[in-house]
Amino acid sequence: MRHLLDIADLSVGEIGEMTETAEDIIKNPEKYMGICKGKKLATLFFEPSTRTRLSFEAAMIDLGGQVIGFESGTNSSASKGESVRDTARVVGNYADIIAMRHPSEGAAFAAAEVSPVPIINAGDGGHCHPTQTLADILTIKREAGRLDNLTIGLCGDLKYGRTVHSLIEAMIRYKNVSFVLISPEELALPDYMLDVLDENGAEYKITESLDRFMPNLDVLYMTRIQKERFDDLTEYERLKDSYVLTNEKLICAKKNMIILHPLPRVNEISPEVDSDPRAAYFRQTYNGKIMRMALIIKLLDCKNVKCGGVSKKYYLGYKCKNKKCITQTEYGLTEKNYIDKNGLRRCAYCDSLI
Ligand code: NCD
Repeated sequence: MRHLLDIADLSVGEIGEMTETAEDIIKNPEKYMGICKGKKLATLFFEPSTRTRLSFEAAMIDLGGQVIGFESGTNSSASKGESVRDTARVVGNYADIIAMRHPSEGAAFAAAEVSPVPIINAGDGGHCHPTQTLADILTIKREAGRLDNLTIGLCGDLKYGRTVHSLIEAMIRYKNVSFVLISPEELALPDYMLDVLDENGAEYKITESLDRFMPNLDVLYMTRIQKERFDDLTEYERLKDSYVLTNEKLICAKKNMIILHPLPRVNEISPEVDSDPRAAYFRQTYNGKIMRMALIIKLLDCKNVKCGGVSKKYYLGYKCKNKKCITQTEYGLTEKNYIDKNGLRRCAYCDSLI
């Protein structure tokens, strides 16, 4: 059985096949209208969502399937203390596939250990968000016509922005892709992500300035400062308006630069930018639904097919110290870890150093 927990679970070839399916869905939607008839998707959202949950549900409905689920942990037995894994075991008896969003890092990974049906990680705390990356990739492909030879600026909350983590993990696998990491020092990319860049020999620059490398960028990926992940809200108040993209800032950008944002935006893109033809963030939300259709087709089709992405060797023992990791709250979860390419031991659920 295949799950999508991390974008590295999909090979570059598979992502290519999925973008082809997506483009065919856009051209010939009627071909796909009934192909999931009789199938059910469960959306288990323990955290707020507009686009991800509704686009998953719309995707399944457009494929002829049906949808069950909840949109807040407080409406589920999680509020009575039920574990993530028990929830997945139970819902696996009612649905053919599960999309799960949870505030703990690694939650979907824990659910996948016991779920009888495919689990899709729809966001696990500040860790990763692979289906947003699928939306981002289709958007870059459709807007730029390529996924290689790109300079990608990632701006805002690179520490807690899970969409950034998954996007980097995906794009390092394409040829000649370099990154400009734009953030205040306090919201810099976590070490495990810098290690991912280094291990793959990816070129990257780190800066606090949104203007400095603007003329070099092919893609500018803006992100929201993730208020809900801050332990100290005064720190959030201090950092929340670090970057605001305006028409003036875009004057020196390439004429065909693509402006992306996973949304919701708060203040980081001024509404005046919306009418700039380079602003692709609303088209990105449409692409998200289409790629989720391609993903559901793939995972429902792929029972008993071997994982096409990277598989890691796991070891037992060692307690993860990350306060936001699922291992801190999920009872009965076996502590698992892996050794990365630099010989460092990391939690198998949230990738933190142990
Ligand atoms: C993102 C998320 O939930 O991580 N939103 C989304 O899924 N489109 C980004 C965010 O909340 O800032």
